[in-house]
Amino acid sequence: MRLDGKTALITGSARGIGLAFAKAYVAEGAKVVIADINEAAAQAAAAEIGENALSVALDVADQASIDAGIAKAANHFGQIDILINNAAIFTAAPVVEITESDYARVFDINVKGTLFTMQSVARHMIERGIKGKIINMASQAGRRGEALVAVYCASKAAVISLTQSAGLNLIKHGINVNAIAPGVVDGEHWDGVDAFFAKHEGKAPGQKKKEVGAAVPFGRMGTADDLTGMAIFLASSEADYIVAQTYNVDGGNWMS
Ligand SMILES: NC(=O)c1ccc[n+]([C@@H]2O[C@H](COP(=O)([O-])OP(=O)(O)OC[C@H]3O[C@@H](n4cnc5c(N)ncnc54)[C@H](O)[C@@H]3O)[C@@H](O)[C@H]2O)c1
Repeated sequence: MRLDGKTALITGSARGIGLAFAKAYVAEGAKVVIADINEAAAQAAAAEIGENALSVALDVADQASIDAGIAKAANHFGQIDILINNAAIFTAAPVVEITESDYARVFDINVKGTLFTMQSVARHMIERGIKGKIINMASQAGRRGEALVAVYCASKAAVISLTQSAGLNLIKHGINVNAIAPGVVDGEHWDGVDAFFAKHEGKAPGQKKKEVGAAVPFGRMGTADDLTGMAIFLASSEADYIVAQTYNVDGGNWMS
Protein backbone atom coordinates (compact mmCIF):
# COMPACT_ATOMS: atom_id res chain seq x y z
CA MET A 1 0.00 0.00 0.00
CA ARG A 2 2.62 2.51 -1.12
CA LEU A 3 0.06 5.22 -1.90
CA ASP A 4 -2.11 4.84 1.19
CA GLY A 5 -3.96 8.06 2.04
CA LYS A 6 -2.94 9.82 -1.21
CA THR A 7 -5.25 11.27 -3.83
CA ALA A 8 -4.20 11.21 -7.49
CA LEU A 9 -5.75 13.20 -10.31
CA ILE A 10 -5.11 11.40 -13.60
CA THR A 11 -6.03 13.17 -16.83
CA GLY A 12 -7.24 11.09 -19.76
CA SER A 13 -7.91 8.14 -17.47
CA ALA A 14 -11.28 7.03 -18.82
CA ARG A 15 -9.49 4.34 -20.84
CA GLY A 16 -6.13 2.92 -21.81
CA ILE A 17 -2.96 3.61 -19.84
CA GLY A 18 -4.57 6.23 -17.58
CA LEU A 19 -7.31 3.81 -16.52
CA ALA A 20 -4.71 1.11 -15.76
CA PHE A 21 -2.85 3.66 -13.62
CA ALA A 22 -6.06 4.55 -11.76
CA LYS A 23 -6.79 0.89 -10.94
CA ALA A 24 -3.18 0.24 -9.90
CA TYR A 25 -3.16 3.32 -7.65
CA VAL A 26 -6.38 2.26 -5.90
CA ALA A 27 -4.84 -1.18 -5.33
CA GLU A 28 -1.95 0.68 -3.59
CA GLY A 29 -4.37 2.49 -1.27
CA ALA A 30 -4.94 5.75 -3.19
CA LYS A 31 -8.10 7.60 -4.13
CA VAL A 32 -8.24 8.55 -7.80
CA VAL A 33 -9.86 11.28 -9.87
CA ILE A 34 -10.75 10.08 -13.36
CA ALA A 35 -10.41 13.39 -15.21
CA ASP A 36 -11.31 13.05 -18.88
CA ILE A 37 -12.87 15.04 -21.69
CA ASN A 38 -15.10 12.00 -22.33
CA GLU A 39 -17.47 12.46 -19.38
CA ALA A 40 -19.56 9.33 -19.99
CA ALA A 41 -16.49 7.10 -20.22
CA ALA A 42 -15.00 8.74 -17.10
CA GLN A 43 -18.21 8.07 -15.18
CA ALA A 44 -18.24 4.44 -16.29
CA ALA A 45 -14.58 4.00 -15.31
CA ALA A 46 -15.12 5.58 -11.88
CA ALA A 47 -18.23 3.44 -11.31
CA GLU A 48 -16.23 0.32 -12.17
CA ILE A 49 -13.51 1.24 -9.64
CA GLY A 50 -16.00 2.16 -6.89
CA GLU A 51 -16.00 4.62 -3.99
CA ASN A 52 -12.25 5.31 -4.22
CA ALA A 53 -12.76 6.93 -7.61
CA LEU A 54 -14.40 10.20 -8.64
CA SER A 55 -15.07 11.19 -12.24
CA VAL A 56 -14.70 14.76 -13.42
CA ALA A 57 -15.28 16.15 -16.89
CA LEU A 58 -12.00 17.91 -17.63
CA ASP A 59 -10.60 19.26 -20.90
CA VAL A 60 -6.88 19.91 -20.40
CA ALA A 61 -6.94 22.44 -23.26
CA ASP A 62 -9.37 24.68 -21.34
CA GLN A 63 -8.14 26.53 -18.22
CA ALA A 64 -11.64 26.99 -16.77
CA SER A 65 -12.23 23.26 -17.11
CA ILE A 66 -8.89 22.47 -15.40
CA ASP A 67 -9.74 24.81 -12.51
CA ALA A 68 -13.24 23.38 -12.11
CA GLY A 69 -11.94 19.82 -12.18
CA ILE A 70 -9.30 20.51 -9.53
CA ALA A 71 -11.86 22.28 -7.32
CA LYS A 72 -14.30 19.37 -7.62
CA ALA A 73 -11.55 16.85 -6.83
CA ALA A 74 -10.26 18.83 -3.83
CA ASN A 75 -13.80 19.34 -2.55
CA HIS A 76 -14.52 15.60 -2.73
CA PHE A 77 -11.24 14.10 -1.49
CA GLY A 78 -9.74 17.07 0.44
CA GLN A 79 -6.58 17.59 -1.57
CA ILE A 80 -4.54 16.37 -4.54
CA ASP A 81 -1.19 14.72 -3.76
CA ILE A 82 -0.36 13.26 -7.16
CA LEU A 83 -0.99 14.42 -10.72
CA ILE A 84 -0.49 12.29 -13.80
CA ASN A 85 -0.60 14.37 -16.97
CA ASN A 86 -1.70 11.51 -19.18
CA ALA A 87 -4.25 13.00 -21.59
CA ALA A 88 -2.95 13.32 -25.14
CA ILE A 89 -4.00 12.87 -28.72
CA PHE A 90 -2.09 11.37 -31.63
CA THR A 91 -1.85 12.67 -35.14
CA ALA A 92 0.21 11.65 -38.13
CA ALA A 93 0.70 12.93 -41.65
CA PRO A 94 3.44 13.44 -44.21
CA VAL A 95 5.08 16.83 -43.56
CA VAL A 96 3.57 18.37 -46.71
CA GLU A 97 0.06 17.45 -45.51
CA ILE A 98 0.22 18.73 -41.91
CA THR A 99 -2.52 21.27 -41.25
CA GLU A 100 -2.33 24.24 -38.89
CA SER A 101 -5.51 23.15 -37.11
CA ASP A 102 -4.13 19.66 -36.49
CA TYR A 103 -0.90 21.15 -35.15
CA ALA A 104 -2.83 23.56 -32.89
CA ARG A 105 -5.10 20.84 -31.45
CA VAL A 106 -2.18 18.48 -30.66
CA PHE A 107 -0.11 21.21 -29.04
CA ASP A 108 -3.15 22.56 -27.14
CA ILE A 109 -3.76 19.18 -25.52
CA ASN A 110 -0.34 17.50 -25.34
CA VAL A 111 1.82 20.54 -24.50
CA LYS A 112 -0.33 23.43 -23.26
CA GLY A 113 -2.58 20.98 -21.42
CA THR A 114 0.39 19.36 -19.69
CA LEU A 115 1.91 22.72 -18.72
CA PHE A 116 -1.21 24.39 -17.36
CA THR A 117 -2.63 21.34 -15.60
CA MET A 118 0.79 21.00 -13.98
CA GLN A 119 0.78 24.70 -13.06
CA SER A 120 -2.71 24.56 -11.55
CA VAL A 121 -2.04 21.45 -9.50
CA ALA A 122 1.38 22.80 -8.43
CA ARG A 123 -0.33 25.98 -7.15
CA HIS A 124 -2.82 23.79 -5.24
CA MET A 125 0.08 21.82 -3.71
CA ILE A 126 2.17 24.89 -2.83
CA GLU A 127 -0.78 26.71 -1.19
CA ARG A 128 -1.40 23.71 1.07
CA GLY A 129 2.23 22.75 1.66
CA ILE A 130 1.71 19.39 -0.06
CA LYS A 131 4.95 17.64 -0.99
CA GLY A 132 3.41 16.21 -4.12
CA LYS A 133 4.38 14.14 -7.14
CA ILE A 134 3.73 15.07 -10.75
CA ILE A 135 4.21 12.52 -13.53
CA ASN A 136 4.02 13.55 -17.17
CA MET A 137 3.41 11.04 -19.93
CA ALA A 138 6.07 11.51 -22.58
CA SER A 139 6.85 8.90 -25.25
CA GLN A 140 9.67 7.31 -27.18
CA ALA A 141 8.23 9.58 -29.89
CA GLY A 142 9.73 12.48 -27.93
CA ARG A 143 13.21 10.96 -28.10
CA ARG A 144 13.48 10.85 -31.89
CA GLY A 145 11.47 12.13 -34.84
CA GLU A 146 9.49 9.83 -37.10
CA ALA A 147 8.88 10.46 -40.80
CA LEU A 148 5.08 10.55 -40.61
CA VAL A 149 4.66 11.71 -37.03
CA ALA A 150 6.29 15.17 -36.89
CA VAL A 151 3.70 16.99 -34.78
CA TYR A 152 3.10 14.29 -32.16
CA CYS A 153 6.85 13.64 -31.81
CA ALA A 154 7.52 17.36 -31.33
CA SER A 155 4.75 17.56 -28.71
CA LYS A 156 6.27 14.69 -26.72
CA ALA A 157 9.77 16.20 -26.96
CA ALA A 158 8.20 19.32 -25.44
CA VAL A 159 6.76 17.22 -22.60
CA ILE A 160 10.26 15.91 -21.80
CA SER A 161 11.59 19.48 -21.79
CA LEU A 162 8.72 20.80 -19.62
CA THR A 163 9.38 17.95 -17.18
CA GLN A 164 13.00 19.05 -16.87
CA SER A 165 12.24 22.75 -16.33
CA ALA A 166 9.28 22.21 -14.01
CA GLY A 167 11.18 19.54 -12.13
CA LEU A 168 14.05 21.95 -11.47
CA ASN A 169 11.69 24.78 -10.49
CA LEU A 170 9.23 22.89 -8.26
CA ILE A 171 11.58 20.70 -6.23
CA LYS A 172 12.22 23.66 -3.91
CA HIS A 173 8.57 23.23 -2.85
CA GLY A 174 9.10 19.51 -2.33
CA ILE A 175 7.21 18.68 -5.52
CA ASN A 176 8.85 16.02 -7.71
CA VAL A 177 8.20 16.27 -11.43
CA ASN A 178 9.23 13.30 -13.57
CA ALA A 179 8.02 11.60 -16.73
CA ILE A 180 7.49 8.18 -18.23
CA ALA A 181 8.34 7.51 -21.87
CA PRO A 182 6.47 4.40 -23.04
CA GLY A 183 7.29 2.71 -26.34
CA VAL A 184 4.45 1.01 -28.19
CA VAL A 185 1.54 0.11 -25.93
CA ASP A 186 -1.34 -1.92 -27.33
CA GLY A 187 -4.86 -0.59 -26.84
CA GLU A 188 -7.45 1.66 -28.47
CA HIS A 189 -4.83 4.37 -29.09
CA TRP A 190 -2.69 1.99 -31.13
CA ASP A 191 -5.75 0.67 -32.99
CA GLY A 192 -5.93 4.20 -34.44
CA VAL A 193 -2.20 4.34 -35.15
CA ASP A 194 -2.40 0.98 -36.93
CA ALA A 195 -5.31 2.23 -39.06
CA PHE A 196 -3.30 5.32 -40.02
CA PHE A 197 -0.33 3.27 -41.19
CA ALA A 198 -2.65 0.88 -43.00
CA LYS A 199 -3.84 3.91 -45.01
CA HIS A 200 -0.50 5.67 -45.56
CA GLU A 201 1.81 2.68 -46.01
CA GLY A 202 -0.68 0.33 -47.68
CA LYS A 203 -0.41 -2.22 -44.88
CA ALA A 204 -3.08 -4.76 -43.96
CA PRO A 205 -4.95 -3.96 -40.71
CA GLY A 206 -2.89 -5.26 -37.77
CA GLN A 207 0.32 -5.44 -39.81
CA LYS A 208 1.94 -2.33 -38.29
CA LYS A 209 1.25 -3.60 -34.77
CA LYS A 210 2.92 -6.92 -35.62
CA GLU A 211 5.96 -5.10 -37.01
CA VAL A 212 6.45 -2.72 -34.09
CA GLY A 213 5.90 -5.53 -31.59
CA ALA A 214 8.49 -7.76 -33.28
CA ALA A 215 10.98 -4.86 -33.29
CA VAL A 216 10.83 -4.38 -29.49
CA PRO A 217 13.91 -6.00 -27.87
CA PHE A 218 11.59 -7.55 -25.24
CA GLY A 219 9.75 -9.25 -28.11
CA ARG A 220 6.27 -7.74 -28.02
CA MET A 221 4.27 -4.53 -27.73
CA GLY A 222 3.77 -3.24 -24.22
CA THR A 223 0.54 -3.36 -22.27
CA ALA A 224 -0.82 -0.64 -20.00
CA ASP A 225 -0.06 -2.92 -17.05
CA ASP A 226 3.64 -2.96 -18.02
CA LEU A 227 3.75 0.74 -17.06
CA THR A 228 1.99 0.70 -13.69
CA GLY A 229 5.07 -0.25 -11.66
CA MET A 230 6.93 2.88 -12.75
CA ALA A 231 3.85 5.05 -12.19
CA ILE A 232 3.48 3.75 -8.63
CA PHE A 233 7.19 4.10 -7.91
CA LEU A 234 7.40 7.71 -9.15
CA ALA A 235 4.35 8.65 -7.04
CA SER A 236 5.74 7.03 -3.89
CA SER A 237 8.16 8.31 -1.28
CA GLU A 238 10.75 5.92 -2.74
CA ALA A 239 11.15 8.48 -5.54
CA ASP A 240 11.70 11.53 -3.31
CA TYR A 241 15.26 12.07 -4.59
CA ILE A 242 14.33 11.72 -8.28
CA VAL A 243 13.94 15.07 -10.01
CA ALA A 244 13.23 16.13 -13.62
CA GLN A 245 13.85 12.69 -15.15
CA THR A 246 12.13 10.86 -18.00
CA TYR A 247 12.17 7.07 -17.65
CA ASN A 248 11.89 4.80 -20.66
CA VAL A 249 9.50 1.90 -20.04
CA ASP A 250 9.50 0.44 -23.50
CA GLY A 251 10.89 -3.10 -23.55
CA GLY A 252 14.31 -1.81 -24.57
CA ASN A 253 13.39 0.33 -27.58
CA TRP A 254 15.33 3.41 -26.45
CA MET A 255 18.39 3.80 -24.25
CA SER A 256 19.17 7.03 -22.42
N1 LIG B 1 -0.31 3.83 -26.37
C1 LIG B 1 0.98 4.04 -26.67
O1 LIG B 1 1.60 3.28 -27.44
C2 LIG B 1 1.71 5.19 -26.07
C3 LIG B 1 3.10 5.28 -26.29
C4 LIG B 1 3.80 6.34 -25.75
C5 LIG B 1 3.15 7.30 -25.01
N2 LIG B 1 1.80 7.20 -24.82
C6 LIG B 1 1.16 8.24 -24.03
O2 LIG B 1 0.49 7.67 -22.92
C7 LIG B 1 -0.68 8.44 -22.63
C8 LIG B 1 -1.92 7.56 -22.63
O3 LIG B 1 -2.00 6.91 -23.89
P1 LIG B 1 -3.18 5.87 -24.24
O4 LIG B 1 -2.62 4.90 -25.21
O5 LIG B 1 -3.83 5.35 -23.01
O6 LIG B 1 -4.18 6.88 -25.02
P2 LIG B 1 -5.76 6.78 -25.27
O7 LIG B 1 -6.02 7.49 -26.55
O8 LIG B 1 -6.24 5.35 -25.17
O9 LIG B 1 -6.40 7.59 -24.05
C9 LIG B 1 -6.30 8.97 -23.99
C10 LIG B 1 -7.40 9.51 -23.10
O10 LIG B 1 -7.24 10.95 -23.06
C11 LIG B 1 -8.53 11.53 -23.16
N3 LIG B 1 -8.41 12.89 -23.70
C12 LIG B 1 -8.18 13.27 -24.98
N4 LIG B 1 -8.18 14.59 -25.08
C13 LIG B 1 -8.38 15.09 -23.83
C14 LIG B 1 -8.48 16.39 -23.28
N5 LIG B 1 -8.40 17.48 -24.07
N6 LIG B 1 -8.66 16.53 -21.95
C15 LIG B 1 -8.79 15.43 -21.16
N7 LIG B 1 -8.74 14.17 -21.61
C16 LIG B 1 -8.52 14.01 -22.94
C17 LIG B 1 -9.32 10.58 -24.07
O11 LIG B 1 -10.72 10.76 -23.91
C18 LIG B 1 -8.81 9.21 -23.60
O12 LIG B 1 -9.61 8.71 -22.52
C19 LIG B 1 -0.71 9.57 -23.66
O13 LIG B 1 -0.05 10.70 -23.13
C20 LIG B 1 0.10 9.00 -24.81
O14 LIG B 1 0.66 10.01 -25.64
C21 LIG B 1 1.07 6.17 -25.33
